[in-house]
Amino acid sequence: MFKEVLASVEGIVVDLGAGRVRFAKSLLENPRVREVVAVEIDFSKLREAKKQYSEQRLHLVCGSIACLPLRESSIDTAISILVLHELAGGREEVEKTVKEAKRILRAGGKLIIVDKYLYKPEDPAEALSLMIEDLYHEALREAKGVKLWGLHKPEDYLDIVKKYFSKATWSKVKRERKIPGEVFVKEWGKETKFLVKTIKDENTRRRLENKIREVEKTALEHGYKSSEVLVIIAEN
Ligand SMILES: C[S@@+](CC[C@H](N)C(=O)[O-])C[C@H]1O[C@@H](n2cnc3c(N)ncnc32)[C@H](O)[C@@H]1O
Repeated sequence: MFKEVLASVEGIVVDLGAGRVRFAKSLLENPRVREVVAVEIDFSKLREAKKQYSEQRLHLVCGSIACLPLRESSIDTAISILVLHELAGGREEVEKTVKEAKRILRAGGKLIIVDKYLYKPEDPAEALSLMIEDLYHEALREAKGVKLWGLHKPEDYLDIVKKYFSKATWSKVKRERKIPGEVFVKEWGKETKFLVKTIKDENTRRRLENKIREVEKTALEHGYKSSEVLVIIAEN
């Protein structure tokens, strides 16, 4: 986890799009954190988390981060890790989420966004990380008609954040996780491949199957490396 991010997390924290709650749970180890509210739209992920964690200071909430069931000015830190690019409904939904974060944060509270962003890595192993993201989004759109916000430039994130928060700093952070190609090919893409199989239009399906082959070829040649992320810290 990034030091600068952890240093800014304190008080009552809401984890926006908490997934399986691993990160939210680890926040409780920070002595500056009092309670953590983990908000996640997929209840099956919260069900898994509930079986694992019984901490009194951890609150699991099923709902959308674009319409938070939390009172005005009740939260010290809101954090969103790798979520905004996955919001269905595109830019409008991202705006609603940032506006909601502003509403629930107390004066002086912080919104921390860590997300993938659009850039051109020189290293093909790192480029693969963005390629598979795009491919998953395309598969979801073609198979189910669901359009996620997707990968965007830092300016696009900042435009939205600065509409609601007057103070915002940002940085690009490298992630060092590398995986050998053979391991990546074994583990990657269950959901993407499933979606592609369900696409009815043959030309579209073939085009995406070719992209899957391209991903696996690149992985076997160069391995896989996590892409950089954008870190934004906005103060209310
Ligand atoms: C890539 S995962 C990241 C999970 C977690 N933050 C982490 O770092 O492990 C994105 C999560 O956002 C959740 N999500 C997507 N749209 C959401 C929404 N509108 N409200 C709440 N959660 C949402 C997804 O269900 C998924 O669990």
